[in-house]
Amino acid sequence: MKGLFLTFEGPEGSGKSTIIQLIYKKLIEEGYPVICTREPGGIDIAEQIREVILKKENTAMDSKTEALLYAASRRQHLVEKVIPALNKGYIVLCDRFVDSSLAYQGVGRGLGIDEVYQMNLFAIGDVLPDLTLFFDCPVEVGLARIHSDGQREVNRLDLESLQFHHQIYQGYLDICERYRDRIKKINANQPIEDVFNEVYSLIEEYICHIEHS
Ligand code: TYD
Repeated sequence: MKGLFLTFEGPEGSGKSTIIQLIYKKLIEEGYPVICTREPGGIDIAEQIREVILKKENTAMDSKTEALLYAASRRQHLVEKVIPALNKGYIVLCDRFVDSSLAYQGVGRGLGIDEVYQMNLFAIGDVLPDLTLFFDCPVEVGLARIHSDGQREVNRLDLESLQFHHQIYQGYLDICERYRDRIKKINANQPIEDVFNEVYSLIEEYICHIEHS
């Protein structure tokens, strides 16, 4: 594969979805071939799975069912969209990927990081991101942001307890430590322009590094 696979991770309201759009625009302006996508979803079949997972009424969903559905949606999205784009040399910006499952299902739902990773290997094979940006932002700050955003639709996971969101945050810190070569932390508790600059310089540095290696 010739392209570059960049994933954006973080707790609710960490600002990654806003920044990913700004990064997409900037990379297009700079003349890079780039696509921007998201999980769960990004293509028709995966969007259909997303509806089942996030539907507020599906409170009976078992944690393992939830983890399997995320992995199923991930597989379809990867095969139909991400891998073909990488093969054509595109930079793929993806809002959430396997680390979200490790944090939310592995730690938040208590299924275990290693167990959820093993299960996901069946879905992703050897496709891991080249670089992952973790948007580090205190849980309360993130939740206050989403609650003040009237446009955002509330989903099943948003309705979980504060403790669940704290567990996810701690889970992410653990995952950052485990994969410290791949995951870079971003200070997401600062104005958007500053977050954008921090993210863009990391991406530029990474592109420069691979162009010269
Ligand atoms: P979304 O509305 O896209 O939220 P966000 O803007 O925070 O990304 O909803 C995605 C939700 O699904 C979010 O609560 C995180 C959760 N999620 C998992 O629990 N596991 C996963 O593997 C993925 C990809 C997402």
